[in-house]
Amino acid sequence: MRSLNFAPAEIITGKGSLSVLKTLSGERFMVVTGGGSMRRNGTLGRISTYLDGKAVLLHEGIGKNPTIHEVEQGLSAMKAFVPDTVIALGGGSAIDAAKAMILFYENPDLQFDHLPVGKLPDRRKRVRLIAIPSTSGTASEVTKTSVITDPERGLKIPINCMANKPDIAILDCELTMSLPDNIVVETGMDALTHAVEAYLRTDCDDFDAVLAVGAILGILEWLPVSYAEKTEEAREKMHNFQCLAGLAFTNAGLTMVHGIAHALGGYYNFSHGLTNAILLPYVLSYNRQDPSVARKLERLARLSCCSDFVCAVEQLNDRLHIPRTIREMGLDEKTYQKDRRILAENSLMGPTASNPIKMNPDSIAAVIDSAYYGR
Ligand SMILES: [Fe+2]
Repeated sequence: MRSLNFAPAEIITGKGSLSVLKTLSGERFMVVTGGGSMRRNGTLGRISTYLDGKAVLLHEGIGKNPTIHEVEQGLSAMKAFVPDTVIALGGGSAIDAAKAMILFYENPDLQFDHLPVGKLPDRRKRVRLIAIPSTSGTASEVTKTSVITDPERGLKIPINCMANKPDIAILDCELTMSLPDNIVVETGMDALTHAVEAYLRTDCDDFDAVLAVGAILGILEWLPVSYAEKTEEAREKMHNFQCLAGLAFTNAGLTMVHGIAHALGGYYNFSHGLTNAILLPYVLSYNRQDPSVARKLERLARLSCCSDFVCAVEQLNDRLHIPRTIREMGLDEKTYQKDRRILAENSLMGPTASNPIKMNPDSIAAVIDSAYYGR
C-alpha cells in the first residue's frame, strides 16, 4: 500500500499567472528571495504592486546552496515580522530556504543537528507558503524536500516532510525569460535527472512512471529549444515539465546521482544541476547492470526514438555544452584524491540508500572515479 500526494493544493500556470497574487487573502507577506535577479528583471516590483496595501517584508540574499546560517537569519526575521503568508520567489535555493525557515519557525524544538528523520511534522499550522519558481529545474514548488548546506561539515542536509509542501505553486514562464544560458542548462538537466531517477527506482509505480516518462520526453524535446532559441513556448514547456518531474520524484524518490551530487555540492559548493548532468550518464551506465534498470532504459530509448538512452543523455550534454567530467569542473586531482574517501562516504547518505544497486564505500568511489576521470 502506498499513499501518494500531489500537493500543492493549487498549481497556477501560464504566462502572467503571477498576477494571481493580487486576489489572495492575507495581511502580512514575507517575501524570501535570492541574489537580486528578481529585482533587476522587475518581478519584485510587480509583486509589491500586487500586494499594495498589505504589510510586506522583503528578505533577500539567499545563495545558490542555502546554508544553516541563512535559514537562521530568515528565521529571526520571521519571528520579528510574524507573517501569515510566505512567498518563496526564485530558484530552488530560495524556496528550499523558505521551507526550512517556516519548519523551524513553527517547530521551535527542532534542531538542525538532531532532526528526527521520519518523524518530522506532516503539516504547517500557522503560515501559508506560496512558491514561485524563477528557474525550471528543482520543482521545489511541489516537493516535500528542502536541501540545506552545513558548510562546517561540508554536508548537504535533505529535510523531507509533508510540512514542507507549498500550498500554492505559481508557474509563470515570464520569470524565466531572462535566465542566463548556464542556469537554463543546469536547472533543466537537474529536472531531467529527477525524472530519470524517479522512473528507475525499483518502487516506481504506475502514477510515478507516467509522470516521470512524460517529463523525460518533454524535457528531451524542449530543453535544447529553451537553451538555443529561448522561445516563450519552450520556456513554458520546460517550466511545466520540470514541475511534472517534481511531482514524480516527490512520491517515488531519487537514487545515487543525487546522493553523489549532494556530497560533491556540500564539499565544493558545485552547481547542483551541473553536477547531476555530468554524473547522470556514468550512474546510468553503472546501474544498468540491474535487469530492471536495463529494461527501463530500453523502453526510454524506444520512446525517445534513439538507439541508446545513455548515449542520448551524453549527446544532450554535448549540445548544452556541459563538461564531460567532474575534473573539468575545476577540481584538481590532488584535492580529489585527498577527499575521495570522505566523498564516497558522504555519497552513501540520502537517496543513494534507494539506488537500484546497493552501494558500499568502494563501489560508489569507483563510480565517482569514473565521472571524475571520464572512464
Ligand atoms: Fe535535484
